Amino acid sequence: MKITQAELYTVAVSEEQYPTTNLPEIALAGRSNVGKSSFINKMLNRKKLAHTSQKPGKTQTLNFYIINQRFYFVDVPGYGFAKISKKERESWGKMIETYLKTRKQLKAVLLIVDIRHEPTKDDRMMYDWLKHYGIPTIVIATKCDKIAKGQWEKQKKIIKQTLQLAPDVPLIAFSAETGQGKDEAWAQLAKFL
Ligand code: GTP
Ligand code: MG
Repeated sequence: MKITQAELYTVAVSEEQYPTTNLPEIALAGRSNVGKSSFINKMLNRKKLAHTSQKPGKTQTLNFYIINQRFYFVDVPGYGFAKISKKERESWGKMIETYLKTRKQLKAVLLIVDIRHEPTKDDRMMYDWLKHYGIPTIVIATKCDKIAKGQWEKQKKIIKQTLQLAPDVPLIAFSAETGQGKDEAWAQLAKFL
């Protein structure tokens, strides 16, 4: 896809703050610090549109980025971040759950995992949850620049098995450093836009 325009449209923590448009929305989900915001930036060829950080917990709100006036990427706070209170965790859960469960404009979720590691219990819960609610999912195995290309298939197999991925769920090796997997990710996303 040729990106002619990409900007932060709005930031939301509750339903009345969601955009009132009917454009399709694609949300990102994944562990804190896994590379969700970096994924958005790479897909859009923008270095600093979505804020990234070496410290987990950077993204705290639902951030709606409007692309070409045609659809949104919705950057979502990551899960599994230890340094937050129980109360914060609960409000986080409610914010994400409400959005994912009720949003008609939501067309698909990109579940971002680290290609180097076996998916965590939280990753499995997230995938099972998306499956349960029938939300189309694309799994992105990111940071593939950090391991040798020869290991990608083996790691993908581990991810597939650990998440017990349905056969029709795409699993793409990706790197926000090199752009690996970008075209494939766009091709999969195009089906929902
Ligand atoms: P939260 O907002 O805290 O949930 O994190 P996030 O999932 O948005 O992660 P973010 O994009 O901020 O990236 C976290 C760190 O990982 C940053 O230091 C990024 O530079 C790094 N990173 C992300 N993607 C890649 C990648 O594909 N390759 C490499 N080498 N580093 C990456
Ligand atoms: Mg982020």
